Amino acid sequence: MRVVLLGAPGAGKGTQCKRIVDRYGVSHLSSGDILRRNRSEGTELGNKAKSYMDAGALVPDDLVVAMMVEAIKEVSDKGFVLDGFPRTVNQAEELDKTLAENGESIDLVLNLQIDDQIVMQRMTGRRSCPKCGAVYHIENLKPKVDGICDKDGTELIQRPDDKPEVVENRLQTYHRQTEPVVDYYRRDNRVYDVDAGKSVDRTSEEIYGKLDALVST
Ligand code: AP5
Repeated sequence: MRVVLLGAPGAGKGTQCKRIVDRYGVSHLSSGDILRRNRSEGTELGNKAKSYMDAGALVPDDLVVAMMVEAIKEVSDKGFVLDGFPRTVNQAEELDKTLAENGESIDLVLNLQIDDQIVMQRMTGRRSCPKCGAVYHIENLKPKVDGICDKDGTELIQRPDDKPEVVENRLQTYHRQTEPVVDYYRRDNRVYDVDAGKSVDRTSEEIYGKLDALVST
């Protein structure tokens, strides 16, 4: 299974990817998580990415493509779900080229659709585990103990790019640079639109319906 999850910031890509991994045993490759890991480890890539991420802009394509191609090579046998990549048409073309070299392609693109107003409410209430990447919400998806990760007991944090003014920029960046990626994949009917404004469970059910059909073919 080679699947891409597209959608605005806060559409629920990370939340749904973690459930897809649990159910289907594929690898989860999140460009945002990999960039944040590089930042916390102080790598050259992390240092270059920092100013773009903090402003809600995209990190340059050449850096992200090289990073993700490397990550995909490591997990390609097991199948994967991509979260946050590709985010420009150029990235999508590079991804298709890389996969085609091994006779592979993206099987399905799940396009999580959501209104901008809902995004703002989700982002300001999001809390994340800096260790395992688990995602919570202070109202919609609470951890068992306030402020603590259920999985590893680490103290949860608020991402620096979840400040309202940065979220605003991320949304604009999404509409300008990432929506055309949906049209790129629509050209050969690879897109399935998902209403991501529903609850986490109902959104998962819709996604599982589509993925169950994919794995049984
Ligand atoms: P990235 O980390 O990819 O951020 P994003 O795409 O903006 O997405 P988020 O992680 O913010 O949201 P999500 O859709 O995963 O939502 P979540 O499940 O957490 O990227 C960060 C930055 O890195 C970018 O701005 C850019 O600078 C850089 N970058 C990354 N990839 C790049 C690329 N390919 N090219 C260039 N630059 C790149 O859910 C959000 C909240 O809502 C949570 O609290 C959750 O609990 C809650 N929630 C989720 N679903 C529901 C629901 N159905 N109902 C109620 N609440 C819900």
